[in-house]
Amino acid sequence: MSEMTVANASEISRHDFPGDFMFGVGSSAYQVEGSWRTDGKGLSIWDWFCLRHPDKVEGGANGCHSDENYTRMKEDVQILKKMGVNSYRFSISWPRILPGGKVSMGKSKEGINHYNRLIDELLANEIEPFVTLFHSDLPNALEQEYMGFLSSNIEDFVNYADVCFWEFGDRVKNWVTINEPHGFTISGYAQGIWPPGRGGNNKDGDPQTEPYIVAYNLLNSHAAAYTKYQQDYKDIQKGKVGITLDCDYFQPYRGLGCRQDVEAVGYAFDFVIGWFLEPITRGSWPESMQKFGQTPTSEYPNGRVLPTFSSDQRIKLIDSYDFLGINYYTANYVRSPTPDDDIGLGYSMDRQDPDGRYIGEPSFEGSWIYLCPQQLTQLLVHIKETYQVTKEIIITENGSSEKNETRKTYEQVREDKYWINYIKEHLKALKNARDQNVNVRGYFVWSFMDSFEWTSGYSVRFGMIYVDFTKDLERYPKESALWYKKFLWEQDYNK
Ligand code: NOJ
Repeated sequence: MSEMTVANASEISRHDFPGDFMFGVGSSAYQVEGSWRTDGKGLSIWDWFCLRHPDKVEGGANGCHSDENYTRMKEDVQILKKMGVNSYRFSISWPRILPGGKVSMGKSKEGINHYNRLIDELLANEIEPFVTLFHSDLPNALEQEYMGFLSSNIEDFVNYADVCFWEFGDRVKNWVTINEPHGFTISGYAQGIWPPGRGGNNKDGDPQTEPYIVAYNLLNSHAAAYTKYQQDYKDIQKGKVGITLDCDYFQPYRGLGCRQDVEAVGYAFDFVIGWFLEPITRGSWPESMQKFGQTPTSEYPNGRVLPTFSSDQRIKLIDSYDFLGINYYTANYVRSPTPDDDIGLGYSMDRQDPDGRYIGEPSFEGSWIYLCPQQLTQLLVHIKETYQVTKEIIITENGSSEKNETRKTYEQVREDKYWINYIKEHLKALKNARDQNVNVRGYFVWSFMDSFEWTSGYSVRFGMIYVDFTKDLERYPKESALWYKKFLWEQDYNK
């Protein structure tokens, strides 16, 4: 680890942030809950995908049991308490609440009770629930019936959100409608590596058109749920509703002097962040995306299908967030596209510059996470300036991972200096952003505990809490968890 990047403990402190700043850790239902069929839970597209295509997930793994956080919920809240966090980000499993995906197919009392118990348990321990409605686990019934988000049927999402606002909104005051719409769209519909496995090397789907339709439907679903809350709940429940976007930072591969790469950086920001942020701030797609989507090609004589927002949709979209959630992990170099850039996005990414230098220190050999904390400040300033975001920004995810194969046991993993340094450096970056008047109000480490990491299965560990998957799913705090508690409270973990 280079001297340059090692944070000095005294350089950042809890007192650099306001007293009501949210400090938490996060998880998502499919990744931690397990209990995939317990109490009548319906299947999600991830249940289906893992079981149907074990070849697409490392080690043929799945989230059927994972951490069994569903049955070990109370124990896990006690761990959160020991960590000293004042908030916990988790997601509700849509098919646990509505096993058939739709309200008309019946609500699950057991599913609802589970989240009621979790929320009550958190509040009893002075931990604020920060709840995501959709974190990739669509009810499989809806995928089967009308191809999920590829269809413009947004009613079911709003009905599901309505059930959650109604059942939990007296106690939940922070709602994220959708987590990482960009990642969900690209992985599932352009690369085909996530459910529903369209695009990429698969025979299904059209990666040039479907991602745009899915993004359009996700955005309209988000705006409709936001509107629902405003109309029926806001006055009584007084909560906040936002969306969480995945954002890397982008730098020109050959430096600022290279016009094509600087242009490609603009595209990358448009196609990753602007794709969702422009619609919810200005009610339109980024200009470059419009140009790209409408340019005729031999295959698409009328241009690719970039849906148009109606005036009613625009009205609902503009300003449809009380806070903006940002998931930030790393930065990338960007250059103008190569001909085999198979989804034709107008940019290509690289982790090394032309001299082979990495953009930042990798969390492990081969990892996609590079230590690039200053770029978090730059990203936040970029968001504020480019999209005029002055509302609250919450860092809903930030964290690093360990390769499970190389350091497997708790004894080997517990000492996680890279991790602690990673978090400290990003907190410093947040302080810098706040000093530049970016309205950051919260920070959630990803992740609470080791869990099912999508196509990587259990081959990487993101948790501050180590989970022994070989023996009874025992949980142990890594040094980062001890450090977090010290940072937050100047107290030991077990206090
Ligand atoms: C973002 C996703 O929201 C989360 O589910 C995932 O585990 C992390 N990134 C790490 O890849």
